[in-house]
Amino acid sequence: MDFITSTAILPLLFGCLGIFGLFRLLQWMRMKAYLRNAVVVITGATSGLGKECAKVFYATGAKLVLCGRNQEALEELKQELIASQATKVQTHKPYTVTFDLTDPEAIVGAAAKILQCFGYVDILVNNAGISYRGTIMDTTVDVDKRVMETNYFGPVALTKALLPSMIKRRQGHIVAISSIQGKISIPFRSAYAASKHATQAFFDCLRAEMEQYEIEVTVISPGYIHTNLSVNAITADGSRYGVMDKTTAQGRSPVEVAQDILAAVGKKKKDVVLADLLPSLAIYLRTLAPGLFFSLMASRAKKERKAKNS
Ligand SMILES: NC(=O)c1ccc[n+]([C@@H]2O[C@H](COP(=O)([O-])OP(=O)(O)OC[C@H]3O[C@@H](n4cnc5c(N)ncnc54)[C@H](OP(=O)(O)O)[C@@H]3O)[C@@H](O)[C@H]2O)c1
Ligand SMILES: *[C@@H]1O[C@H](CO)[C@@H](O)[C@H](O)[C@H]1NC(C)=O
Repeated sequence: MDFITSTAILPLLFGCLGIFGLFRLLQWMRMKAYLRNAVVVITGATSGLGKECAKVFYATGAKLVLCGRNQEALEELKQELIASQATKVQTHKPYTVTFDLTDPEAIVGAAAKILQCFGYVDILVNNAGISYRGTIMDTTVDVDKRVMETNYFGPVALTKALLPSMIKRRQGHIVAISSIQGKISIPFRSAYAASKHATQAFFDCLRAEMEQYEIEVTVISPGYIHTNLSVNAITADGSRYGVMDKTTAQGRSPVEVAQDILAAVGKKKKDVVLADLLPSLAIYLRTLAPGLFFSLMASRAKKERKAKNS
């Protein structure tokens, strides 16, 4: 390399890095401005991922409405947030609204209460959900319905109840916390995978229909997260599973996932997979080599059946 090119390369490299850095800084500042003072509703805020989302959105200065079924747990979280001082931005006292997502009438009433808190909603994070474990043959249709009501019909009803006010303001953002299982089905999770596939489909349609009102839709599909989701899962007869699965225990920290969700929402991403290489590859395999994917799932079912019977 002659003298001229070698002296030109370094400044050029630093120039590019500088522009890239500046771009990232601007993006970060825009994201913070978008979330600061935004009215953010989080369902399932009493536990796991929802609780951690509440903490990160609170710390960026969002005006929170915390939702769940357990009023005591919501109040506890609210006090914890108010007492936390680890942030330089102006924070806002959260509100709590208690309701059950499987009760359509309760959702209508809850939406009215949610709107009363700050007068409007900027961002709705549909996070609440329930998981399921069981074989299709052993599972009553009532259990299928309960999972669908919690994970699909509840969020759909709440979203529909809050949309008119967003449309009127021509501003709003709907977030759906789906799952890798919204993109691929694994054995013994039928009701859960079905509810998350339905979630993906509904919110993909919503995104297209809402574009004219400048309302954003973000679907987030995480892999395993270390929460009580498997403990709280329901089984074939509707009883509580009560077991911390190894896969869940080895999952990502909900704190990290909440930070990724904050960034994805702040950047108005449309569809985000938050998972390791293997589950991400499985999504491609399902599309590009479905035959191979199906035989892998069949051998997984066989292996799990054997493990259970031994
Ligand atoms: N953990 C994972 O491995 C994982 C992976 C991918 C996606 N996700 C998704 O992440 C979301 C959060 O789950 P998590 O892992 O944090 O589990 P979690 O710790 O069990 O939390 C579930 C939350 O949902 C609420 N909830 C459940 N049923 C409800 C109902 N009928 N009405 C209102 N709220 C209800 C619960 O609140 P109350 O009990 O107070 O009502 C709780 O706050 C779910 O949508 C889940 O599917 C989790
Ligand atoms: C699960 O729930 C128990 C009891 O409510 C709680 O002590 C524990 O911290 C929770 N674990 C996780 C990973 O959220």
